[in-house]
Amino acid sequence: MDSSEQQLAEEDAAIALLRWYADMGVDEAVAAAPADLRSWGAKPSPPRSPAAAPTKASTPVFKPSAVALQADEAVAAAQKISAGCDSFEALEAAVKAFEGCPLKAGARNTVFADGAPSADLLVIGEAPGRDEDRIGKPFVGRAGQLLGRMLAAIGRDRAQNTLISNVIYWRPPGNRTPSQTETAICRPFVDRLIELTAPKAVLLAGGAPMQALLGVTGIMRARGVWREIETASGARYPALPIFHPAFLLRQPANKRLAWADLLALQKRLMED
Ligand code: URA
Repeated sequence: MDSSEQQLAEEDAAIALLRWYADMGVDEAVAAAPADLRSWGAKPSPPRSPAAAPTKASTPVFKPSAVALQADEAVAAAQKISAGCDSFEALEAAVKAFEGCPLKAGARNTVFADGAPSADLLVIGEAPGRDEDRIGKPFVGRAGQLLGRMLAAIGRDRAQNTLISNVIYWRPPGNRTPSQTETAICRPFVDRLIELTAPKAVLLAGGAPMQALLGVTGIMRARGVWREIETASGARYPALPIFHPAFLLRQPANKRLAWADLLALQKRLMED
């Protein structure tokens, strides 16, 4: 086999493999670490000899200074930046400008929050999915639509009296579970969002935000039980874990329990 025949054989094998993946239902190529979307298409830099004179960067290779940050440096940066934010708008701008979370490199949008920042109810979910990443707002996909119906059942609406956010602001590749490091890097911003909006209640949608903000695991037992989130400054806010709407889409029989939790939330919000 000459080299051109070999190349054709390799291409046929690659196409056959891709076809097999497609037949198996694989429709997205992801790895656990985010791919840097901004560097796609960029030409690799030519190797530079140590003696080469410094040249102006001519190739648009993305060098995310913060992705190279150590996790503890990124957490420290997030703490410092978030502490300096005195308004919801300042915090939103700071999160969008933040380069310290590696997930950002693989995301299309920063998904910070949506709804009424002055609301007395703050809903916190896990992380943006594909639809949220595309649109740049939390809970806009199927789970978000169910969340909207759940909130409407107790007179709540993100356009008027509810703010919605997540514990992670960038979509993890393939919707994988965010790592502890990614969660720790975003946490100072989440704390600051809670402090700045000072809600009467925080509704934690699912086990991930519950674990991230309360340190509690096991949503089946912990849902419906009021606890307190303690932010970095020591302030405390009532928080109620509830089943994630995506879980309720898969297991609708549990909507009965979620309804009981929503009624408990409504009662709390109506108290003085
Ligand atoms: N699930 C979440 O937890 N958050 C979103 O924004 C969307 C889906």
